[in-house]
Amino acid sequence: MSKRPTVVVTRRLPEPVEKELSREFDARLNRDDRPLGADGLQEALRTADALLCTVTDRLTAKVLSAEPRRARLLANFGVGFNHIDTNAAKARGLAVSNTPDVLTQATADIAMTLLLMASRRTGEGERHVRAGAWTGWRPTHMLGTQVSGKVLGLVGMGRIARAVAKRAHHGFGMRVIFHDPYPPTPAEAAELGAEPRASLEQVLEEADFVSLHCPATPETRHLMNRERLGRMRPSAFLINTARGDVVDEAALVEALSSGTIAGAGLDVYEKEPQVSPALLAMENVVLLPHLGSATQETRIAMGMRALENLRLFFSGAPLRDRVV
Ligand code: DGY
Repeated sequence: MSKRPTVVVTRRLPEPVEKELSREFDARLNRDDRPLGADGLQEALRTADALLCTVTDRLTAKVLSAEPRRARLLANFGVGFNHIDTNAAKARGLAVSNTPDVLTQATADIAMTLLLMASRRTGEGERHVRAGAWTGWRPTHMLGTQVSGKVLGLVGMGRIARAVAKRAHHGFGMRVIFHDPYPPTPAEAAELGAEPRASLEQVLEEADFVSLHCPATPETRHLMNRERLGRMRPSAFLINTARGDVVDEAALVEALSSGTIAGAGLDVYEKEPQVSPALLAMENVVLLPHLGSATQETRIAMGMRALENLRLFFSGAPLRDRVV
């Protein structure tokens, strides 16, 4: 019997993915779905050929220093890989892959969901009805902010931002502006009805809605700090489906409570799964539990893409989605 590579799958995955993984690999599944923690990850690095990991696994330089290490690949389930110290991985000759493309549409849908929920006060409205507080229709009840025709400012113009621009411009008649150090071509931007701005600050000052779509890197940590939140309009909303680190959560709490900005829609947090207690108590913020890619279709596609990376790697072919 040929020896199949051993793959530690750090969290539960949709059933079709787990089945396929078990068929092709000696897959160690996580039936309890509990995060492995630093010790569990080190044990996996010592005893498996690869880890199929997720955003909940903190693969720091310390964790990656496990010796003797058997693993040669970290096949990440997700596009963002800020939870992996890629420099440490590279220095140790450990390959890293991710799963781009397949979650673009689902994540863009969640950005639009947050934008609509925050501006139309739908979370608040739902709580109101469920609490039995609704006394009936009236012309001045729970008025929100119109979305159609407004200005959407995109911070970063990668795949997900472009999918958001498409929805916002072609679906909601929004004017789209963006800032990205690596912008799309003028023709690509024009197709999305998106106009570049030379600086992030210009986007913040002009937009009615600011949606974050940059990766979490040391450079983008707390990109939305007190000063930049202060550049936004008092009537504007901040939407974050990227990573929690990109926003200084304490500064956001202050901006929301002082009226510096009107509201926010968040899918990600600085200390996930912890959410600032102040945010939990606010009505002008919509809070989702990192649902960006959470559809059956997308999570299966992400799993299959991670599986494809494993398959390519162990057959000696170049990785499709190599990060390092
Ligand atoms: C991603 O792919 O980055 C999602 O946020 C899950 O990690």
